Formats: sequence, structure tokens, C-alpha cells
Amino acid sequence: MRMTVIGTGYLGATHAACMAELGHEVLGVDVDEAKIEALKNGRVPFYEPGLPEVLERNLEAGRLDFTTDYERVAEFANVHFIGVGTPQQRGSYAADTRYVEAVIEDLVPKLEGNHIIFGKSTVPVGTAAALQERADELAAEAGNKASVEIAWNPEFLREGYAVKDTIEPDRIVVGVRGKDTNAEQAAREVYAQALENETPFIVTDLQTAELVKVSANAFLATKISFINAVSEVCEIVGADVTQLADAIGYDDRIGRKFLGAGLGFGGGCLPKDIRAFMARAGEVGADQALTFLREVDAINMRRRQRIVDLSREMLGSLIGKRITVLGAAFKPNSDDVRDSPALAVAGQLSLAGASVRIFDPQAMENAKKVFPTLDYATSLDDALRGAELVILATEWAEFKELDPKHAAELVAEQRIIDGRNVLPVDAWQSAGWEIRALGRSL
Ligand code: UDX
Repeated sequence: MRMTVIGTGYLGATHAACMAELGHEVLGVDVDEAKIEALKNGRVPFYEPGLPEVLERNLEAGRLDFTTDYERVAEFANVHFIGVGTPQQRGSYAADTRYVEAVIEDLVPKLEGNHIIFGKSTVPVGTAAALQERADELAAEAGNKASVEIAWNPEFLREGYAVKDTIEPDRIVVGVRGKDTNAEQAAREVYAQALENETPFIVTDLQTAELVKVSANAFLATKISFINAVSEVCEIVGADVTQLADAIGYDDRIGRKFLGAGLGFGGGCLPKDIRAFMARAGEVGADQALTFLREVDAINMRRRQRIVDLSREMLGSLIGKRITVLGAAFKPNSDDVRDSPALAVAGQLSLAGASVRIFDPQAMENAKKVFPTLDYATSLDDALRGAELVILATEWAEFKELDPKHAAELVAEQRIIDGRNVLPVDAWQSAGWEIRALGRSL
């Protein structure tokens, strides 16, 4: 099939490359010339394991191309995917849908014939129906050369596993308008391979598909904040949250995944999606329905403060203390620092007067853009040298596997906070370290 993908960020670039990998002919489009130039030359402008190989292979095979020219989009295909961002609005919890709207404004007047536009971006419920109305108006204004159907096909990919999640999704959801829809059939062709492998395929109305995405993310965020709330109690009564999570996780109605207590969630999705979901629920009149998400958010933000408080407890005062923060990305296997808990902690410690040094295997450049004044180490050893306190804030494999004896030779004081509950505590204690962790009395 021929298709275009509009917006080539984490979501769009991955979708474009993976659709080509499935054998489709794909044109990726973005207004950002630098990004398009990089992608055209086989360079992924962010860190995503496995994606550079998929990109290169499909560029070479001639199934994949990128452009900034919207005229080409209109001519290239009759099926289009929107993968532009829907960030949190300034000064509000709501999502900013202006980029999605701009795609419709730009694209529809250029179209001729029958087109299907699948939205993949996470949007407030009701957006797709409004976009359909606007698309119909624009098509009429342009002389009815085109008939445009808007459908919603939410994306569930996780950064770090984006290629696998796109090529072998655990489910495909397509929201279609009630009448004369061609989108379901088109989606069946796009995802033919996954359907052959019996991937669940769920066809819904537009508003259900929109809600599926935010509900999934709100549930995941709630699960993390649940265990982090329990973690607060554990800290006070001297219980161990990791053993507790193992024990409740064996109940397969609960499950152990996303019960990792620690510094909490960040990234470009979970924090903004729960806020946008709350805001939208209020707008549609379900004022009380999602107020608990405010608490989910608050529990999450308190974990960041807890690490700062714990640092102060361990060091006495923070002023002038040399603290090394291991991790800047919001999670391992990513260079994404959007709403990163690790960077938030680093920033707060620095504001409180500590001398903060950061190391991350992939996210240093992005971190420097957010906090240019912090000190960035050149290697893990360099980061540890002279530290009076080490904080493991993002659970990269090389931090989890750090040898406590080797680390002891580099630091000034053997103090560490395991912000993700991933270190082998006994080994660190036997090597002479004072180790603290969230939700455990060690
Ligand atoms: C998430 C959803 O998982 C994905 O389905 C959706 O499409 C986009 O949002 P992502 O943001 O890539 O994906 O990261 P995810 O792996 O879900 O982790 C989110 C955050 O939660 C990270 O900061 C992670 O460190 C944190 N987390 C995760 C925990 O604190 N504890 C856990 O047990 C799991």
C-alpha cells in the first residue's frame, strides 16, 4: 500500500519506517527541515534501539522517503497517518491540538479523490469528529474535488521498544465514523501482517478510540502511583515495598508489571495524558469522574521531592555538596528528557545549593538543552569521581550492573540512593556503602 506519515517525531518516524518494513511504500513529512534531512540520510534524530537499521534498510530498498513538501503528500497516496505532537498547553492541563488541526488545514485543500486520514496522535475525546467536520468544510470550499474520511488509530508504542511495538502490536484499535466508512478496510490492509498473526483488531466509534489511548495511559500511571503511595507508608512503618509488590504481583488479576516503586513516571506521554484526560472530563461535564488522577499526579511528583529530602537527611545540608545523578532520560533505552524525574531531581538539588554532576549514556545532549548550567560528566567513572552522594535516578543496565567495589574507589563518600529499587542491596552494603532506597528501610 502507499501511505504518508505526517509528523516525524518519535511516533511518526517510527511508524513511517516500520510501515515500510512491512512492505508498504511510505512518504514521511515534517515541517522541520533538519529532521527530514537527517531521516533522508538514514539518521534517526533520537535514540531508539533498532530503528536506525530499519530506516536504512527501507531507504535503500526505495520503499521509504521523506519530504517537507505538502504538495507531494497529496499526490503520493490516498491513505495518510497523522503523528504530530499534542503537548500540554501552557498554563493549562489541556492538550494543545493546534498541530493536528494545522495538518487538516494544510492538507485537505490539496487533496483530490477519496482519502482516509488516520490520526495516531493522542487527542482529547471529540477531536476526531471536529476534524471531520472541518475537513468536510475545507473540501467543500476547495470545490468538492475530494472526499476525506477521518479515522482514529491510536498508538501504544513504548519508547525503547518502539520498533517491536509497531511491527508486532498487542492490539490494533481503529475508531471509524458511523456511516459509509472505508477506514476499517484500509486499516485491515495496512495491518495485514499483524492480522494474519491474530492480533486483536478492535473497531470502535471515533470517541471510544480516542478514549482507549488516554485510558490505557491513565491506568498505567495509576498503577505506578498506587505502588508509590504504598511505598510512602512502607517508608514510615519500616516495610519493604519491593517484596510487597512481588507478593501482590503474583495475583494475576494484579500482575507485577508497572508496580516498580521508585522515582515515578515521566516522559512525553503519561504525565501530559493524565492531565489532558482530567481537563477534558471537566469540559464534557464529568467533573468528578477523574479527580483521582490529580492525586495520581501528586503522588508521582512527591517521589521527586522525597529523593531531595532523603539526600538532605543523608548529607546534613545540601549546600556545596557534590552529588552525582546517574540518569537524565525519563527511562532507560531512551534519550528523551521530557518531564524526566531524574532531571527534575538534579535541578531541585542544584537549586538547593548542591553541586550536581550528571551522567546518562544517551541523553546528555538533550539534558544540556534543558539545564545548561549543570555539570555533565564524560563517563560513568568521571561522574562518580569525588561524589559525596550518588543517586541512581534512571535504571540503565550499566548503572544496575555497577560494581560497588569499583565505585567505592572513585567516590569521596560511599553514600547511594537507589531511586529505582534495582541495585543488589547486600552487595553494596558489604562493599561498605550506606544505601537508601524509596519504600524500604535499609
Ligand atoms: C507509555 C505507554 O507505556 C505507551 O503504551 C504509550 O504509547 C506511551 O506512553 P513510554 O512513555 O514510552 O510509554 O514509557 P513507559 O515504559 O510506559 O514508562 C513510563 C514511565 O513510567 C517511565 O518514567 C518509567 O520509568 C515509569 N515507570 C514504569 C515506573 O516508575 N514504574 C514502573 O513500574 C514502570
